[in-house]
Amino acid sequence: MKDYQIPTRETDIIVAELQKTADIAGDVVEFGCYAGDTSVILAAELKNNPDKWLYLYDSFEGLPEKTAADEAPQGWRFQAGELRVSEDTVAHKFKKLSLPDPVIKKAWFNELTDDDLPSSISFALLDGDFYESIKVSLEKVVPRLNPGGIIVVHDYRNPALPGSAKAVNEFMDAHADEYDFRLAATLAILVKK
Ligand SMILES: C[S@@+](CC[C@H](N)C(=O)[O-])C[C@H]1O[C@@H](n2cnc3c(N)ncnc32)[C@H](O)[C@@H]1O
Repeated sequence: MKDYQIPTRETDIIVAELQKTADIAGDVVEFGCYAGDTSVILAAELKNNPDKWLYLYDSFEGLPEKTAADEAPQGWRFQAGELRVSEDTVAHKFKKLSLPDPVIKKAWFNELTDDDLPSSISFALLDGDFYESIKVSLEKVVPRLNPGGIIVVHDYRNPALPGSAKAVNEFMDAHADEYDFRLAATLAILVKK
């Protein structure tokens, strides 16, 4: 398994943002959970809030094909099929740490249906790396996000993955009145007004 863990500073920021949504109605979702390393950090924090379910989504087939929006000189290492792990790897990690079972759904993001998604969301971590993956994640989360809810998008300031910022910028251009926007480390943080 390759080392794609989110650095500690960023996980600290993600947890701090998650804590801000403790009193917002809705569940917690991660689009692009890979081996579940950040998922278990979210789950550990959610032990303080057992009414909230954690939903994890991934192809478990690795990354999809890039589009033109993802091309970057530094991006040679992110190829289709990279970052492939099994759902069992994630489930086992939760068991080993005695964390409550999350809902784990194996699917390409664009194939997720209403039945796969919680009706109400308070916090979302989007970590699908590529333009189309972040764009479709936003499309799935936004209609379900409650006021005060937070979306954290990984890789906004990662020059190797320019599609993440492109998808977020297009979204904010269309929804600037509805979201507060700021950056922290490589992360974009969108707070629904
Ligand atoms: C960088 S990894 C996620 C890392 C994880 N969030 C962590 O912190 O350990 C990106 C993941 O997104 C998944 N992914 C990317 N685009 C996807 C898509 N369109 N549909 C489903 N999964 C996707 C990949 O399979 C990969 O596991």
